[in-house]
Amino acid sequence: MDLQTQLEELKRSTQEKLAQMTHEHARDMQDLRVQVLGKKGSLTELLKGLKDLSNDLRPVIGKQVNEVRDVLTSAFEERAKLIEEMAIQAQLEKESLDVTLPGRQFKLGNRHILSQTCQDIEDIFLGMGYQIIDGFEVEKDYYNFERMNLPKDHPARDMQDSFYITEEILLRTHTSPVEARAMDQHDFSKGPLKMISPGRVFRRDTDDATHSHQFHQIEGLVVGENISMADLKGTLLLISQKMFGEDRKIRLRPSYFPFTEPSVEVDVSCFKCEGKGCSVCKKTGWIEILGAGMTHPSVLEMSGIDSSKYSGFAFGMGQERIAMLRYGINDIRGFYQGDSRFSEQFK
Ligand code: DAH
Repeated sequence: MDLQTQLEELKRSTQEKLAQMTHEHARDMQDLRVQVLGKKGSLTELLKGLKDLSNDLRPVIGKQVNEVRDVLTSAFEERAKLIEEMAIQAQLEKESLDVTLPGRQFKLGNRHILSQTCQDIEDIFLGMGYQIIDGFEVEKDYYNFERMNLPKDHPARDMQDSFYITEEILLRTHTSPVEARAMDQHDFSKGPLKMISPGRVFRRDTDDATHSHQFHQIEGLVVGENISMADLKGTLLLISQKMFGEDRKIRLRPSYFPFTEPSVEVDVSCFKCEGKGCSVCKKTGWIEILGAGMTHPSVLEMSGIDSSKYSGFAFGMGQERIAMLRYGINDIRGFYQGDSRFSEQFK
């Protein structure tokens, strides 16, 4: 084969190979380029044959060699550009966005039912001008018991055994110590003290469907001049109706708490059977919701409050109990297990 034909053949075969290169052959194309146009490539090899040609043929073929080199160089460049576009196109196809696909569902959380219940109660009291006061979960025996009229040897302490940090420091067994702390702080020359205090409390107890060693209460306290049992009753009726329905009635039964005198247990008329008797109210028509009473004069005096001038009422309710009644929850443990199937029912 003469040199001219070989050149033509090299050009043709290279172009043919190039035409088949896609973005998946970037490497092969690189190799081909070196093979054909490289320093030791086919074209250089053919160039060596020039010296054997006649004087009149040499410039002709020489020119042809250059032409082939130019043609192939730009052919490689063009193909490289094309391959780059192909690669981008392929990437785009892989990542293509199908706008008709349904959107991804985001799982929206919701407030825990206890927080929700607490906030509902807070809103009612805020509306009546109460302040919300935070207490300490780790409390002194002094505030938890003594200031609540439960001295060291008082038998009523047995009902509220706790987790002791030291002999004098414990996990509070109720939110009542906040009453003492609030009274200590309050300036009665500026008006009555009206406060609620929600929070976590602790007791040495065995956990079951209705008991937990940790639970939540809301304490309430009003101290001022001429505060009477009628104020307590009106307040409790209002909260009961707001929480359990406008038609609710309440009933006070005599009870005993060391920090109130007189003390009462408060029942609300059953919202399920309207008082006829059902499983919720255990066939009595009434459901116990909280303890309350008129603040014991000694409790006032321990805060330096003149009990002949001032009087007060207090109440304490269990948040879990209110929520369980309101939403028909029958196992207290559901509140603490963090199972989303529980939480999602209260969206
Ligand atoms: N502290 C009581 C308890 O945990 C609840 C209670 C009853 C609070 C009567 C009060 C009250 O303020 O007046 O069992």
